[in-house]
Amino acid sequence: KGYFGTEKLFKDKTFLITAGPTKEKIDPVRYFTNRSSGKMGYAIAEQAAMLGADVILVSGTNTLPEPRGVKVIHVESAADMYDEVMMNADKSDVIIKSAAVADYRPKQVFESKVKKQQGNVTIEMERTKDILFELGQKKKHQFLVGFAAETDNIEEYAQNKLIKKNADMIVANNVMEEGAGFAGDTNIVTIFHKDFSSVSLPLLSKKETARRILYEISEKLEDEHY
Ligand code: CTP
Ligand code: CA
Repeated sequence: KGYFGTEKLFKDKTFLITAGPTKEKIDPVRYFTNRSSGKMGYAIAEQAAMLGADVILVSGTNTLPEPRGVKVIHVESAADMYDEVMMNADKSDVIIKSAAVADYRPKQVFESKVKKQQGNVTIEMERTKDILFELGQKKKHQFLVGFAAETDNIEEYAQNKLIKKNADMIVANNVMEEGAGFAGDTNIVTIFHKDFSSVSLPLLSKKETARRILYEISEKLEDEHY
């Protein structure tokens, strides 16, 4: 408490936020997905709205209740998420890509259920588009925030993502760490800025983590020279 005051900090700002996970179809009864509850993205969306922002939340296939005052667009695959994000990117001031997005999808999607057979099966996978990378390429006025879920070498991987994706900020967490896992209501993150400064947050609720992330963003938005 204290660092925001009560005023509507993001009154004239539009935030585009994504939450995971995505689902990639194999056939009508099967899909690939990734571990993600969507809770971090939803918490950021809810808090940004409470701070006065217009919030568009592009949400993957979780079952979370829609946050108050937020426009939610539901999507399934990485390709669907790409389309919705690109459609809303130009009107956004801040884009926060908290979604866990599938990196690969089955190359062939079967129209009817695949029957089992003797022996092993191999499914060929192809790359999905990297939404954050594309946003970084096309970036104009937007403040671009990515996430990095890592199991090791957090700092190195997070810094690499910051540069490669032309992001303004990367929020990294070690998903192996107790309290920073997927389904829980807490997180432990380190925020990496493009000026190479970083802020390590302690174990906090996802709500409080969301507020701290938004605070870091607000500071950078105020700093015109950033
Ligand atoms: N991301 C994205 N589109 C993808 C894959 C990832 O927009 N197809 C975004 C995520 O939303 C996140 C950031 O890129 O904000 C980093 O995602 P992460 O999975 O940690 O990194 P990758 O670049 O996919 O690399 P890797 O999985 O190999 O670590
Ligand atoms: Ca990935």
